[in-house]
Amino acid sequence: METYKDKIDIKRLPEHIAIIMDGNGRWAKEQGKIRIFGHQNGVGAVRAASEACAELGVKYLTLYAFSTENWNRSQIEVDALMRLLSKTMSEELKTLNDNDIRLNAIGDLQRLPKYNYDALMKTIEATKNNKRMTLTLCLSYSGRWEITNAVKQIAEKVMSGEIAIEQIDEDCVSKFLNTNNMPDPELLIRTSGEERLSNFLLWQLAYSEFYFTDKFWPDFGKEDLYQAIADYQNRERRFGKTSEQLSDKK
Ligand code: FPP
Repeated sequence: METYKDKIDIKRLPEHIAIIMDGNGRWAKEQGKIRIFGHQNGVGAVRAASEACAELGVKYLTLYAFSTENWNRSQIEVDALMRLLSKTMSEELKTLNDNDIRLNAIGDLQRLPKYNYDALMKTIEATKNNKRMTLTLCLSYSGRWEITNAVKQIAEKVMSGEIAIEQIDEDCVSKFLNTNNMPDPELLIRTSGEERLSNFLLWQLAYSEFYFTDKFWPDFGKEDLYQAIADYQNRERRFGKTSEQLSDKK
């Protein structure tokens, strides 16, 4: 049986895929279960997406795991999510190393509970030499928070004379973002039928292709990821140019 994997042109893979993992709560509700049951089942989808990307040769996978706004959820849900994240990081350490995947995290990490922060740092340290793929978890993250932070840092450098105002260009701003060492995502995926950015990677997604699916995150498997990549490869990325200009270049 032909699968979406067969439709993927391995030579034109996106180097960086970002995912808004949405719909855990609704997935659980559909089954008459509490929301955290959905998050627990979302872990399997995280594993599947990470494996599929690493196997194909995608270099960066970035997951929106906990937004700045998520702190406003009930204390019970926040605690459960934090515990689930720490538990998963410890349990998956071996799989990350076996698959040569480096764990990375971006966001206001100081806001995380200490036990969670420590588990995160331990896993990041233990996987730092892995080369096949970088898996970035966005934790206590929001795009506006990140850009505001960058503006503050640049302002400090201008005040201390390290940067002249004329030197502030897009490259300079990019360097002060949490993603300074990775390329912008070519493809953004959001599950659960919602079609918005929800404060995710606002700067970095400027030219990305967006792919939306109605599937809830716990149901999003490898084949769904292949389908998203195949769909992406059927699009023409023009970066503001016309089709003719693009084909002239070829
Ligand atoms: C969105 O669903 C999901 C989250 C806020 C948390 C994502 C967390 C996981 C998948 C757990 C494990 C993660 C890692 C990286 C190990 P939602 O709760 O907003 O769902 P809803 O919109 O249906 O309410």
